[in-house]
Amino acid sequence: KAGLEYYGSATDTPGFREREPYAAAYATYDAIFANNDEFGQTTPTNGQKWMFVEPEPGVFNFTEGDIVADLARKQGKLLRCHALIWHSQLAPWVEATKWTPEELKAIMKRHIFGVASYYKGRCHHWDVVNEALDEDGTYRKSVFFNVLGEEYLKLAFQWAAEADPGAKLYYNDYGIERPASVKTAGAKRLVKMILDAGLRVDGIGMQGHLHADNHATMADHMNTMQQYVDLGVHEVAFTELDVRIKTPGVNETKLAWQADSYAAVAEACVRVKQCVGITIWDFYDPFSWIPHVFPDNHAAGLWFEDFTKHPAYDAIINVF
Ligand code: XIL
Repeated sequence: KAGLEYYGSATDTPGFREREPYAAAYATYDAIFANNDEFGQTTPTNGQKWMFVEPEPGVFNFTEGDIVADLARKQGKLLRCHALIWHSQLAPWVEATKWTPEELKAIMKRHIFGVASYYKGRCHHWDVVNEALDEDGTYRKSVFFNVLGEEYLKLAFQWAAEADPGAKLYYNDYGIERPASVKTAGAKRLVKMILDAGLRVDGIGMQGHLHADNHATMADHMNTMQQYVDLGVHEVAFTELDVRIKTPGVNETKLAWQADSYAAVAEACVRVKQCVGITIWDFYDPFSWIPHVFPDNHAAGLWFEDFTKHPAYDAIINVF
């Protein structure tokens, strides 16, 4: 697609999607997903997260992660893997004990090696650290930060590089799409700190959970990406793109704002050489996380419940 390495959609395991049970939709959904002309890349929305892959200390379970990873292999889709170190959707045991720094380092190391070695050779990208920043751009006070300080970020990238040298290693976050935000500044500081330690960060993932009524322009996105590239990362990507619409209702105006938002991202990514790809955070509205986590918002994807397409679908295609 117009100079991008990939354009894809995240997906979840049947039975774990946001609107379940909804088996009546599976056949149509699966057919759209399977069509590589629609989506040539995927990310498991949940299956590779800590709570699924290491539910008990040192006990690994790849059942959920493998469902999407195997689908990607069968369908010849690129796989972005998500996410090794994240404060959310952790297995409860990780936060149940007051670890010493040495204990928590050993836990992180076992996790990163356990998961990244298992998927070695299959992950085009790994989101090595996800959402390490607070809204004000300072470090989020996660269990990892509280016990280890910013060293945990360096260790994560070091161990991920050792475990799967072939995967591109990403720092991934939301709210880092705008050029002048304090969180964008925070992402730059964070990534520079890791690069300055001589470690490899290949890319910065802008999740891209955007708002139809208040979205950044193409120029904003381009400016932000250029700032990241200037730091010395080789690539950037939109890793979890969706554009939420405020309830109640969906009308032509809101859908036009949404189409503009999606198109601005697509166009910015096409224009910035280092922007390698875009992942939609599930294309089908009933399987989108948005209304479940943000009840005042909905219709963030590209296909409505009845499988008609949002205007944003054509807006993106026109860019490509
Ligand atoms: C979301 C999933 O889509 C939901 O199914 C789950 O309940 C919560 O997490 N940022 C991320 C993703 O990095 O992992 C999140 O995915 C959305 C926000």
